[in-house]
Amino acid sequence: MAKQEDLFKNVVSHAKEYGFIFPSSEIYDGLSAVYDYAQNGVELKKNIREYWWKSMVQMHENIVGLDAAILMHPTTWKASGHVDAFNDPLIDNKDSKKRYRADVLIEDYAEKLNIKAQKEIEKAKSRFGDAFNEQEFITTNPRVVEYLSKKNEILARMAKSLDAGDLDDVKLLIEELELACPDSGSRNWTEVRQFNLMFGTKLGASADTAMDLYLRPETAQGIFVNFLNVQKTGRMKIPFGIAQTGKAFRNEIVARQFIFRMREFEQMEMQFFVKPGEEMKWYHYWKETRLKWHNSLGLGAENYRFHDHEKLAHYANAAADIEFNFPFGFKELEGIHSRTDFDLKAHEQFSGKKLQYFDTEENKNYVPYVVETSVGLDRMFLAVFSKSLQEETLEDGSTRTVLRLPSVLAPTKAAVLPLVKKDGLPEIAKEIMEELKWDFNVAYDEKDAVGRRYRRQDALGTPFCITVDHQTVEDKTVTIRHRDTMLQERVAITDLKNIIEKEVSVRNWLMKM
Ligand code: GAP
Repeated sequence: MAKQEDLFKNVVSHAKEYGFIFPSSEIYDGLSAVYDYAQNGVELKKNIREYWWKSMVQMHENIVGLDAAILMHPTTWKASGHVDAFNDPLIDNKDSKKRYRADVLIEDYAEKLNIKAQKEIEKAKSRFGDAFNEQEFITTNPRVVEYLSKKNEILARMAKSLDAGDLDDVKLLIEELELACPDSGSRNWTEVRQFNLMFGTKLGASADTAMDLYLRPETAQGIFVNFLNVQKTGRMKIPFGIAQTGKAFRNEIVARQFIFRMREFEQMEMQFFVKPGEEMKWYHYWKETRLKWHNSLGLGAENYRFHDHEKLAHYANAAADIEFNFPFGFKELEGIHSRTDFDLKAHEQFSGKKLQYFDTEENKNYVPYVVETSVGLDRMFLAVFSKSLQEETLEDGSTRTVLRLPSVLAPTKAAVLPLVKKDGLPEIAKEIMEELKWDFNVAYDEKDAVGRRYRRQDALGTPFCITVDHQTVEDKTVTIRHRDTMLQERVAITDLKNIIEKEVSVRNWLMKM
């Protein structure tokens, strides 16, 4: 556990030290769960977005893009159910004035019981060695049985109360468990209340006429309300998809774990409109296709798993998460949902406008069913960044920090380095950079010894370092060093573009799908 925490701390500090992510408005002590992407972060984020967009829009002739506005007519959120049901149960501590998610306080307590049980199991494992029968121990050891059954009992009661909307019982449970405010230790709690996660704002100048709006909590609704506009103007035939990337906002009560759960974040969503009755076929298709997309990045198939939802939202008839092995364990990275015709029907009802498709093969109108894929861009960033950050011990016993980013996503594809700052080498290096920058993001660096410059580029995730030395002046060749193997080869300057292109082209990476 301590190791995982250290790894996560390294991720956060590396992201800051190397210009990937800064806390928002840091000079004013930051803003909780809001982050800024710095000079390298913005490139990595853009490359992830582009990798997604190309695989969705460019590679599918039946998927088109959209960039709907963040601000939408407020009835949108009534129709989608967000006004009434996009809630978290919150509780305030009257002494510390701190606000918590009631369910998270209870879950944290249940997790402590689980950890106690796991500790007993570990102790017994080391005591009994090979003769240890873990399953038998879990079901017979009185202490483990007590911890685990208490944990299950608490979680079951909380789920029942939340499902029934019985917030008084959630408060009672917190009191019975004697849960104290993690900040002050006080047990002086308010009632539990539902808290809507949408950020409100106003449209219009004068107080009397201003209209209450929300910042969108998901990009999907922009797609639903434009469904017919896109279908008609794009002459789209079912099945077809609309893809969109953009900011979403949620007033998360418990926002932690760096960019995993933010208040302002970016989603990459695609709604796939299908004939009713065919949704399960497409749901399975998109589940597999999305997992293949993740795997194409080469971070290791063992780091992904599906979590099929047993309890479904009222509008879904199937749903699964693709979970990723983050530094704090497996957590949701992407959701794939079969949303039925819930959203389009709701918008029909609230707007009074028909949102139907005329199927020429069947000669009838219907409201299509929708299969949605929804991945957080910031979570993708965290997944890629945290898995790529590695400390290596080299053959000579020294260590190096290397950010083994998939090269297609790397912010800078190559750094051009003159071996020394004289003898005409910087001029040649700059000429090479001027030529390569038409095709790739490249950097130039002449400061410090070349070994240190290599290490800096390793830490930034740059796949190639191109070194201009005295031989370059004679025969127009350079050395090209590969980030992952650290191997260097001598190549002609005229070959550089092809070598880099082969390694970083979206085509070559997406072909792995
Ligand atoms: N349109 C469906 C939808 O929004 P969701 O499961 O609430 O579904 C989809 O969100 C994805 O958006 C998640 O899998 C996650 O990657 C990302 N996401 C959700 N809330 C987030 C937050 N507060 N911070 C960062 N990413 C978030």
